[in-house]
Amino acid sequence: MPTLDIQPNVTLDSSLPPHSATAAANANIALIKYWGKRDENLILPYTSSLSLTLSDLYTQTAVSFEDDLEQDTVTLDGEQLSSAGTTFRRVVGMLDLVREKAGIATKARVVSHNHVPTAAGLASSASGFAALASAASYAAGLRLNSRELSRLARRGSGSASRSIFGGLALWYAGDDDETSYAEQIVAPEDSNLAMIVVTLDERKKPVSSREAMRRTVETSPAYMPWVEQSKRDLAEALEAIRVADIEKLGEIVERNALGMHETMHKAAPPVNYFTDKTYAVLNAVKDMRECGWPVWATMDAGPNVKVLTVGDEVDRVMEELRGRVEGELRGRVEGDAAGVTDAAGDSRNLQYEQTKFTVALPGDGVTIHTSLE
Ligand code: PMV
Repeated sequence: MPTLDIQPNVTLDSSLPPHSATAAANANIALIKYWGKRDENLILPYTSSLSLTLSDLYTQTAVSFEDDLEQDTVTLDGEQLSSAGTTFRRVVGMLDLVREKAGIATKARVVSHNHVPTAAGLASSASGFAALASAASYAAGLRLNSRELSRLARRGSGSASRSIFGGLALWYAGDDDETSYAEQIVAPEDSNLAMIVVTLDERKKPVSSREAMRRTVETSPAYMPWVEQSKRDLAEALEAIRVADIEKLGEIVERNALGMHETMHKAAPPVNYFTDKTYAVLNAVKDMRECGWPVWATMDAGPNVKVLTVGDEVDRVMEELRGRVEGELRGRVEGDAAGVTDAAGDSRNLQYEQTKFTVALPGDGVTIHTSLE
């Protein structure tokens, strides 16, 4: 498949103070998953992965390097982060990489806003580190191209390497820092795909994806077989995209995600992100498919389900899905009331009223505004 040579969308902005830049990057959802690092420091994955960048779900980050600052400061959604926290340390890790590349020691001010509604239940690390890597590197005077930005964003969070690009992005596992980067393979307007994010639980996950990945790689007998399967899945998915066979693509997407979760279920101790509500949504998706609807499920490190569908049909699909999911959940609650308890024996977890549905269409790559010097 021919790849498209994309340059970042950069605007010189005379209203910005020197040594500063802002960047906006969209979230992405993997169709073929990244799960497992073979180099934790460089964040080199075992497998290549493929994702869809989503519009309107983004992080906007401003970075300025200021001579009079004694420490880096990081403000996230209006709250200044404590220097003892994990997020602060990860942000400073990215700033240090940028300072090293630029040959500077100046401290930075980082102000970031997530426009990924918490209701969507999506991780913000992909959009967050794509925006941070872009803003910080341009503020420091580095003029990185999209591939270099993708490599840099990868060092913050693997999935961020893909959020530099719009549409369908392929992250090549590579062999080293230089060869592990993402690339756009289909522009947003050409994909005719969409996602419906079904949010079941907005709380922070009990086990981070970082920890869950590590545990899976180290202890799960199902991990290496999934790595091999995932390579075949990717090749088949790319072929399905090439011939515009969404049914084939959907089948592969669902089996790749469920396979990833199986590797976690077999880790020691197991990591299980599924809840009863997750099973209810997966059932509704399967039932719809049996009635001819174009819907396939995928999941990340959490209980929420993302449903892949055809871009042109997303509104009608969403209405049908909502009706069916609510029906499933209501049926379970009533079943409980009649004495038929769900697996966890907890009907309060099945309140369908709390379930949220968000339509996400294909979005663009990162945009950067930078000062003039
Ligand atoms: O980029 P991270 O470290 O947050 O890992 C993301 C992993 C998954 O979301 C589960 C899969 C993926 O490819 O995005």
